[in-house]
Amino acid sequence: MHEMTNKDLTEAFAGESQAHMKYMIFSDVAAKEGKKNIARLFKAIACAEQIHATNHYRTMGEIKTTPENLQAGIDGEHYEVNEMYPAYLAVSKLQEEKDATRSFHGALEAEKIHEVMYSDAKKLADKGEDIDVGKIYICSVCGYTTTNQAPEKCPICGAPKSKFIGF
Ligand SMILES: [Fe+2]
Ligand SMILES: [Fe+2]
Repeated sequence: MHEMTNKDLTEAFAGESQAHMKYMIFSDVAAKEGKKNIARLFKAIACAEQIHATNHYRTMGEIKTTPENLQAGIDGEHYEVNEMYPAYLAVSKLQEEKDATRSFHGALEAEKIHEVMYSDAKKLADKGEDIDVGKIYICSVCGYTTTNQAPEKCPICGAPKSKFIGF
């Protein structure tokens, strides 16, 4: 592929991915305001942006086998845990940006768990097997991730059990 087209696809993928995420967030805001139709509009268009992102990503040749996709997940989480968030945390603390520090801290702690979960899944996926991870619980406040059952209190942000979402 020509370099410029590949760069354009990479940028379009990033833009569509962000648009998808923003629209999902805006949909939740509208739903909380009781504006069901606007919530639906944001969600539907978020779906279209996800399709655009998927098409761009596929065209870039980035969608591979599940073991390779798990490795991509491990690599991404590993980078966030060991380089990105520690650096961002240090800067936010230095600049006394408390909200940013809290946001980065929640992400860093969850990404550590994500890397382990992906690594465990990859060991079985490499043998062609699926992994029974049990029920997964996510803290809706900070993104803390755990399995089997939701804790009484989130160990990262202190949110109560009722704030956990099960998958
Ligand atoms: Fe993660
Ligand atoms: Fe939390």
